[in-house]
Amino acid sequence: MTGASMTVDLVAPDEALWASRLESSSECAGPQEDQPDSASRVSQCLDVDLASCDGFGQRVRGVVGQLRHSMNAFLADVGGHIGHGVRRSEGRKGIASTALGEVLAYVGDPVGLSRVLVTCDERNPVSRKTIEV
Ligand SMILES: CC(C)(COP(=O)(O)OP(=O)(O)OC[C@H]1O[C@@H](n2cnc3c(N)ncnc32)[C@H](O)[C@@H]1OP(=O)(O)O)[C@@H](O)C(=O)NCCC(=O)NCCS
Repeated sequence: MTGASMTVDLVAPDEALWASRLESSSECAGPQEDQPDSASRVSQCLDVDLASCDGFGQRVRGVVGQLRHSMNAFLADVGGHIGHGVRRSEGRKGIASTALGEVLAYVGDPVGLSRVLVTCDERNPVSRKTIEV
C-alpha cells in the first residue's frame, strides 16, 4: 500500500484506547535502538506513566496531546508540537506520513498555529523521513 491510497481517521483521545495502546507497546521487543523516539522522554518529563490506565487517562484528558497547542522549554527543545508513533505490525503502510499530513490540516484552523515544530532524534532516520515527506 502506498501513502497515496492510504486514509487515516483522526479520533479524539479516549481512555477506551488504553488496551490498544498496551498491545501496540507489546510489539516493541525491547528498546528500538534503530529508532530512538522522543515520546518516552516527553512522558517522563511530564511524569506521565502511559503503561498505567491512570497515566494514560491523565494524558488523554489533556495533560499533553499528540498535537500540542503550546510549547514549554522542554517541548520547544525536544518534543515539538506533534508526536507520532505507529505500531510495528502496521508499519510501512504510509500511516505516519498520512497522519502527519492530516494533523497539519488542523494546525491553522481551528488551533491557530502559523508554524509547527516536528522533531525526531537525529539517530532516527525513519522518523526523519516521515517528517520530511
Ligand atoms: C517512525 C514511524 C512513526 C514511521 O511510521 P510508518 O507509518 O511506518 O511510516 P510510513 O509508512 O509513513 O513511511 C514513511 C517513510 O519511511 C520509510 N520507512 C518506514 N519504516 C521504515 C523502516 N523500518 N526502515 C526503512 N524505511 C522505513 C517508508 O518507506 C517511507 O519512505 P518513502 O516515502 O520513501 O517510501 C514508526 O516507525 C514508529 O512509530 N517508530 C517508533 C516511534 C518513533 O520513532 N516515533 C517518532 C518520534 S519523533
